[in-house]
Amino acid sequence: MVRRTRREMFEPGLGEVRREGRRIGGGVARRAVCAEASGVDPVRRNVEMMDEKRRREVLKRGMSGPWQAEPMLGSCYGEEEIEAVVKTIRASMDPSVGFGFIVEEIEEFERLFAEYCGTKHAVSISTASCGLDMAMRCLDLEPGEEVICPSINFRAAPMAVLGAGGKLVLCEVDLATLCADPKDVERRITPRTRAVLATHMNGLSAPMDELLELAARHPNPKHGPLKVIGDAARACGGGYKGTKIGKKGWMNVFSFHTMKNMTTLGEGGMITTDDDGILSRLHEMRQFGGEHWGSSYKMTKVQAAVGPIQLARLDGMIAARRKLARQRSEMLEGCPRVVLPQEPEGYEHSYYMYSVLVAREWAGEKRDRLIGVLKEEHGVDCGVFNRPVEEEIPYVRRHTEGQELPVSAEVGRRLFCPPIHPRMSEEDNEYIAAAVWEAVGRIEREG
Ligand SMILES: Cc1ncc(COP(=O)(O)O)c(C=O)c1O
Repeated sequence: MVRRTRREMFEPGLGEVRREGRRIGGGVARRAVCAEASGVDPVRRNVEMMDEKRRREVLKRGMSGPWQAEPMLGSCYGEEEIEAVVKTIRASMDPSVGFGFIVEEIEEFERLFAEYCGTKHAVSISTASCGLDMAMRCLDLEPGEEVICPSINFRAAPMAVLGAGGKLVLCEVDLATLCADPKDVERRITPRTRAVLATHMNGLSAPMDELLELAARHPNPKHGPLKVIGDAARACGGGYKGTKIGKKGWMNVFSFHTMKNMTTLGEGGMITTDDDGILSRLHEMRQFGGEHWGSSYKMTKVQAAVGPIQLARLDGMIAARRKLARQRSEMLEGCPRVVLPQEPEGYEHSYYMYSVLVAREWAGEKRDRLIGVLKEEHGVDCGVFNRPVEEEIPYVRRHTEGQELPVSAEVGRRLFCPPIHPRMSEEDNEYIAAAVWEAVGRIEREG
């Protein structure tokens, strides 16, 4: 077997992978670097052999640290980001320079991001939530006009619809992808529908071609084809049918919040579009308005200076997420009562989350018990990303009374997401897989 360097093991651009911290579970574990030292990759060797004996060994060995279900820093930072921040602050200290408005650093980051997504334009913003508000405002919704949005969702997109005065129409997701189900979207289109605001859920692209086809086939009587907009907050770096997420649709909105696939000092976002006509409106809206309403949704110069560095790391970080997801799925193959995440043909999941459904008969109580056992017995923190937004958020519930969403309700009772992160070692990943096997077995025995 060829001895791999640590750099090869952990994708370029990631820097130091060693994690210090409390060991979870039992025993003294070898760290990821030990695989390199022995010349044998212990995870690879055991990927196909996650039998009971192996699971016990792995659980005894423990986990290197307490991974949060949604790690607070979703990305990886290094000296380059620190240097860029310091350099940008130093260059801004002259009173005649300062931090400015839409400065060179911002324009350069936008240029690189548009190039990465293959779009004509990219407009940097302070958060994805602002970007979703901006996209909804660009529709100039009139009272009673509707926007369709998945129920299994973070609340930012539904809130943006309501904030822009639209009627929020929630739709079901496809159980296999957790993204908007085009058949259900079609059922909910009316003559008042203006747009579909689809979330690229947990890092997997929404079915943009199907949604665009529907949008063309069911035009709004006054405004023409429906607009298809992507909430790409969790999906930066993912792919769809030979394009990057961000390319398909009228606009796509990205988040660079600290938890996301890449981050610009904790907050930030980007809107991508190919629509020349909407660009000046977005620019105005971001900076105090003019011909149209505006406010201030700008990213700072220091954030923008970090953007290109994070963007250069992005493919490496996504490759690391994908590798962990693939290995985890191999290790969990055959595990009863769980349905593992899927990647439809032509899609490239960015695995912001590793989304698992328990079998139907385990929905609700047993799923909750599984999450409890994973946390209490094994220190594996899992989240439900996300429950139906109308169940969780009273404001959304009040605006969607009477809408029937049985599939979403079911997903909310079956979904759980064990942690994943580009800096997670293969050994920690193996521990998580072993813990899922053990926890499932235990609940099975409890009957
Ligand atoms: C799917 C989704 N949309 C939108 C947002 C909002 O992003 P931001 O924090 O940049 O406003 C988030 C953030 O958690 C999200 O997960």
